[in-house]
Amino acid sequence: MRNIGLYIHVPFCKKKCYYCDFVSYENVDDDMVFAYFSVLENELIFYKENYEIEIDTIYIGGGTPSFVPAKYISKLLEFIYSNFNIKTTCEISIEANPESITKEKLKSYRKAGINRLSVGIQSLNDIELRAIGRVHDSEVALKILSMVPLYFENFSVDVITGLPYQTFESFVQTLNALLEFSPPHVSIYSLKIEEGTPLFEKYEECKSLLPSEDEERGMFWWARDRLSEAGLYHYEISNFAKKGFECKHNLKYWNVDEYIGVGCAAHSFFEGCRYYNISNIKEYVKKIKENGLAVKGKEFISSEESEKEFIILGLRKIEGFSLDEFKERFSIVFERKYKSQIEKLKKYGLIDINGRIKLTKRGIDLANLVWLEFI
Ligand SMILES: C[S@@+](CC[C@H](N)C(=O)[O-])C[C@H]1O[C@@H](n2cnc3c(N)ncnc32)[C@H](O)[C@@H]1O
Ligand code: SF4
Repeated sequence: MRNIGLYIHVPFCKKKCYYCDFVSYENVDDDMVFAYFSVLENELIFYKENYEIEIDTIYIGGGTPSFVPAKYISKLLEFIYSNFNIKTTCEISIEANPESITKEKLKSYRKAGINRLSVGIQSLNDIELRAIGRVHDSEVALKILSMVPLYFENFSVDVITGLPYQTFESFVQTLNALLEFSPPHVSIYSLKIEEGTPLFEKYEECKSLLPSEDEERGMFWWARDRLSEAGLYHYEISNFAKKGFECKHNLKYWNVDEYIGVGCAAHSFFEGCRYYNISNIKEYVKKIKENGLAVKGKEFISSEESEKEFIILGLRKIEGFSLDEFKERFSIVFERKYKSQIEKLKKYGLIDINGRIKLTKRGIDLANLVWLEFI
């Protein structure tokens, strides 16, 4: 029986944030939420009937899973428990936003078996939160942060660097205030201005309000030291954790392990193929009702592509990947095949290689240039 990660996409939010291009919908009616959760079960049945799998991580992401009434989440997990083999040590994470977390929801998540909560804080500065269209303010976020550790030992907070109006000082205040709650896991994302988002439309106007790239990198490297002082080590480009609190589900992506994704726009990597589902929620629901599946595309990953994925995803981990593991997986000597890339990246101080290959600090800042060498 193969071990597998399960991702469940919940594409609903109270309101779209100005920077976000994840597939999620605002202003949905209850009938749509109900229909969506019903068809998720149909999609899961397909995997139950066709594969022998044991689920060892579940990640309920979004969108904002905490936006929907907790009964939907509990019922879905009950369904999964009664239809699949679930490892006793299974990590079960859910993403939650401050404006929709309540004590009752936290209790209900625990009761449903969820053992990890990821809270989207983004900033504790109200000017910054307003500038990116978040629904919550810092007061709500602080109230939630004092509640979460009462229910979850394993929780994570997301913050973003490079926000409009953000300064080094405001970021220091945000991170220091967050650390008062001793989160065992923190994700720090650099703001990406995604085409098609309201922030992209306003980019020319707001460019001068954004910190410079150097300022943003200064925040990140300061955070790495501050988090290390607090006992959280840097284990992936954007992720920091106390030992034992690394996100097992996300590690599957970076280790190129298999996972199944259900829900609109969800991706899967399974038996050497990548699959992606229909993004549009109405079409997704219709297709699942008709066929039990709503796969829009399937891509067979050739061994050449598989190597590239392993390199790029593996280098996202701060420890990189082992050259022996590469040889074992692909029967190829990495140093021989990628000699010219290694020489170039070493010359510019972007990688270290010594039994393992990993990014240097400069390589982390310029990771996109490193990826280009392997695309
Ligand atoms: C898919 S979102 C869902 C989580 C949750 N709904 C929330 O808003 O916190 C996961 C995380 O991605 C990050 N994110 C989304 N869009 C981003 C962007 N354009 N640039 C940087 N980080 C982004 C945010 O930090 C967010 O917490
Ligand atoms: S960042 Fe989170 S809350 Fe905001 S639109 Fe995206 S998924 Fe929804």
